[in-house]
Formats: sequence, structure tokens, C-alpha cells
Amino acid sequence: MKELDFAQALSVSPAVSTKALKTFRAATRRWKIAMPAAKPLVSDFGLGDFSRTGLIEAWIANEEAAGYCGKYMFLTDGQECPLHHHKVKHETFFIVRGEFSVSVDGQRRVLKEGQSLAILPGQVHSFRGIGEALMLELSMPCVVRDNYFEDPRIMAWLRAAIGEAPAGKTTEKPKASRSGGTAAAARRPFPGISRISPR
Ligand SMILES: [Fe+2]
Repeated sequence: MKELDFAQALSVSPAVSTKALKTFRAATRRWKIAMPAAKPLVSDFGLGDFSRTGLIEAWIANEEAAGYCGKYMFLTDGQECPLHHHKVKHETFFIVRGEFSVSVDGQRRVLKEGQSLAILPGQVHSFRGIGEALMLELSMPCVVRDNYFEDPRIMAWLRAAIGEAPAGKTTEKPKASRSGGTAAAARRPFPGISRISPR
């Protein structure tokens, strides 16, 4: 779960997060959809305008060694995950509730509940909620450094948040989580998930 520890460093302020999580929890309760136990990631991509550019991610699993990841992504009406691509990650979006306006390599389409779309490495994509909307992303492992945003402000924020300072600045290691640090987290199963020992 090391990458979620990295990702949590990208979270918004507690005030924004509290309000956003209230909306998220109300929607998932209304939809009667169980959410994973791991603390959701609330991000505004460093732009400080969460209602416009932001999302909530609820990670189910990110098994880097085994090679898979699953997470929910929740967006409100008009809220957008901005243009980006991955060099490695191949991902599939499955729309669980609501609708998304998705842009892939400049082509925009609407994905409705029950539809899915695969995004290949190198394809520049973004997605926007149409009403409150929830998707499940099934993918290769999520690695924060494999996110390449078109907006240079977001890239600068991302690098700073994960401890890759711009040239000439001191590079800091990512902060350890309060619950035991990144190394311990990598060995620990997700909260709420039990590992079954091989016989
Ligand atoms: Fe993506």
C-alpha cells in the first residue's frame, strides 16, 4: 500500500476533505454500495479548486508485486480529473453509478452506468462527472510517478508532494504515515482485507 501512502500526501486540506467526504459517503449510502475500509484520497490536483478539478479515490487493492489495482473514483457534477496519461499503466473504467464525460486522445464520449472503457498507456485522457458519479478503475498497479499531467502546475505540485523537488532544491523522502511508515505499509494488507496464508 506504499503508493496510497504517497497518494495521501496529495490530499486536500482537512476542511475541504471533510465536506467532500460527507458528500461521498451520503452518495454511496444512498446507492447502497459498500466502500473499502482504507481512508479515501481526496485530491484537488494542487489547483485549490476542488469542486472544479478534483476527485475522491477509494482504493480497494494495489498489489504492486502481483500486478493489479482496483479502486473506486467518485466525482460530483462538473468536477474533472484533468488531462493526463500513463507510460506504463493500462486501465479500464467501469461506470458503477451516474455518467461520465470522458476524453481520450481528444475524442469525447459519455459513459453510462454499466459501460466500460479501456485506456491504453500513452493515451491522454480526462473525465468529468455528469451529476454525482462513481466508477471502478481496474488496472495495472497504480504508481504515483506514472501520472503525467498536461498542466505543468499539476506536475510541479505532484513532484513536490512526493518529494521530487525541482532542480536545485533539496529532495525529501516522502513522509511516513502515522500508522507506521511506507515500508510497513507496503507489507500490510489493506484495512478490512485479510490475507489468506498459503497452506
Ligand atoms: Fe488515468
